[in-house]
Amino acid sequence: MAERFDEDSLRAVGVRIDAEHPEGIIFDPHQPQLRVTDLAAVRGDGIFETMLVKDGHVRKFPAHLERLQRSAKITGIGIPPAESWQAAVARGLDEFRTRSGLPEELSIRLTASRGVDGEPASEDSSFAGTYWVLLTPVPESVQASRGAAISVTLLDRGYDAAAAERAPWLLLGAKTLSYAVNMAALRWAKEHGHDDVIFTSSDGQVLEGPISTVLLGSRDGNGQVHLHTPSPEVGILPGTTQATIYRAAEAAGWTTSAGPVTVAELKQAQFLWLTGSVKLVSPIAQVDELEFTTDPEITHKLLEFLSQEG
Ligand SMILES: Cc1ncc(COP(=O)(O)O)c(C=O)c1O
Repeated sequence: MAERFDEDSLRAVGVRIDAEHPEGIIFDPHQPQLRVTDLAAVRGDGIFETMLVKDGHVRKFPAHLERLQRSAKITGIGIPPAESWQAAVARGLDEFRTRSGLPEELSIRLTASRGVDGEPASEDSSFAGTYWVLLTPVPESVQASRGAAISVTLLDRGYDAAAAERAPWLLLGAKTLSYAVNMAALRWAKEHGHDDVIFTSSDGQVLEGPISTVLLGSRDGNGQVHLHTPSPEVGILPGTTQATIYRAAEAAGWTTSAGPVTVAELKQAQFLWLTGSVKLVSPIAQVDELEFTTDPEITHKLLEFLSQEG
């Protein structure tokens, strides 16, 4: 990988991790870096995490590393230890600091590819693949869209809710690089006048968004708020944003639960949101033709929970 920077501007920083640089080495992501035979490029055979950095603090870093390890286990991809990722992220942040100053918000993507087929990069299985960290400023449009109401469409993902357990080779619970289907679903939504998607199973269960977790909410006559989310057994990613919200919500005296949600139950929900690490919280005002009321007070509180924790 080339290591020289284009001197113009610091639009992004890359940090590669390998056996010789277990703490990471800076590279210029605007220059070609990856071998064309890398399985990340050839087959989308890799895993990733996307984290938010706000005011220099990496949010929910341990939870993301834990989920990366989970994806590594499901896919059988060897990954560097947590300390390597931590050191590489710190190195990337330092590079931003010294070269252009830290932007208020950065998105950090950790990627682990299975590497080049038949040519392990190291005999140590923790460094046999290709690993890098990419730091990019969060666009202002994304920051501004947080908390804004959205319209979603329900799209069938084509598997039943038991597929994850019955067919582990589908890698349904892993955060793999193979997001072409997720991106196609988002394009479909936009072409049909919606902002986002909620995937459903072929047997009528609510799953997740292409890049987010689904959250249902209700408020009873006494003002008591309850949150509910589909559980990961249906072949979805355990959301780190949802988990953080749950911890803070429970501490605030709200009640929470996770379990199966049918499409019929979703349509009867009082409030709905999509949650994710960078967009944070998006209240849903419409599911296909059906309109929902939003509760700005609860949405505000959810955003506040996320700024307190992790
Ligand atoms: C498919 C999918 N589900 C859920 C999420 C939400 O996860 P998190 O809250 O950890 O960002 C993501 C995030 O990218 C995702 O891609």
